[in-house]
Amino acid sequence: MNCFTLPTAARIADIETDNYRTKTFILDVRLEAAPGQFIMAWLPRFDEKPFSLVSADPVTLMITAVGPFTRLVHELQVGDLLWLRGPFGRGFDAPATSRRIALVGGGYGVAPLLWLARRQLAQDAHVTAIIGARTKADLLYAHRFATLADTLGAGVLTVRLTTEDGSAGVHGRVTDVLAPLLNTGQLDAIYACGPHGMLHALTQLARRTTVPCQMSWEAYMRCAIGICGACEHDGKVLCMDGPVLAL
Ligand SMILES: Cc1cc2nc3c(=O)[nH]c(=O)nc-3n(C[C@H](O)[C@H](O)[C@H](O)COP(=O)(O)OP(=O)(O)OC[C@H]3O[C@@H](n4cnc5c(N)ncnc54)[C@H](O)[C@@H]3O)c2cc1C
Ligand code: FES
Repeated sequence: MNCFTLPTAARIADIETDNYRTKTFILDVRLEAAPGQFIMAWLPRFDEKPFSLVSADPVTLMITAVGPFTRLVHELQVGDLLWLRGPFGRGFDAPATSRRIALVGGGYGVAPLLWLARRQLAQDAHVTAIIGARTKADLLYAHRFATLADTLGAGVLTVRLTTEDGSAGVHGRVTDVLAPLLNTGQLDAIYACGPHGMLHALTQLARRTTVPCQMSWEAYMRCAIGICGACEHDGKVLCMDGPVLAL
């Protein structure tokens, strides 16, 4: 199936627990999509919310329980149904010519980056993944990136962790690792996804250089097809023009 224009039932084939409030749901459907695109997940008679695709084949979603909808999704079991619309939006536009790239993820913003890493690594890119969170317990997909790095051999995929309380990796924020890397002059592009505060800090940093930077912005989404205006951000309709915007 290329896309679901109407909510379509998908059965949960597997659930992996990532941390104390995050689970990865693997569904029994596939879509044609690109890293950075998102789907709308619907629970009938309750609500519908946007989530990045961790993978499109099979459709995989990483969901952090932060409110009513995501807490209800966390109660679902293998075999239960989730209704999906999509994929929507513009994903990361990462050309094969970008050989040395940084992927920067904060919190559940890491969700689309493992897929992007795999795609760019397959095109012989050298990837530095910078994964940040408040604490060690909040870090997401660090082990998945580490496992991928181990299978690839030294120097192809470098994984750097940051925590604001210093409980794992560098004591600080993703920008504390990105800034010295940018200063080496050995980066061709930056691709990022995370909370607005992190993206604003990255914007400041990237504007001091000529390195192209694309960031996935979060917004409240209702229709996801450019009609309702819920997702307006800086004059852009994020469900159509984004969520990934170039700096
Ligand atoms: C393109 C896109 C991709 C996303 N990908 C993922 C993902 O991969 N995994 C994931 O867990 N979540 C993702 N989200 C966020 C997810 O859609 C929200 O967290 C969702 O609203 C949670 O619903 P809820 O009813 O559980 O909590 P809500 O009650 O809706 O929200 C809980 C808290 O989060 C805040 N919040 C919710 N949505 C937003 C927003 N868009 N911008 C700023 N603050 C917000 C609310 O103010 C509230 O404080 C994504 C959002 C977008 C727009
Ligand atoms: S969510 Fe309705 S216009 Fe974007």
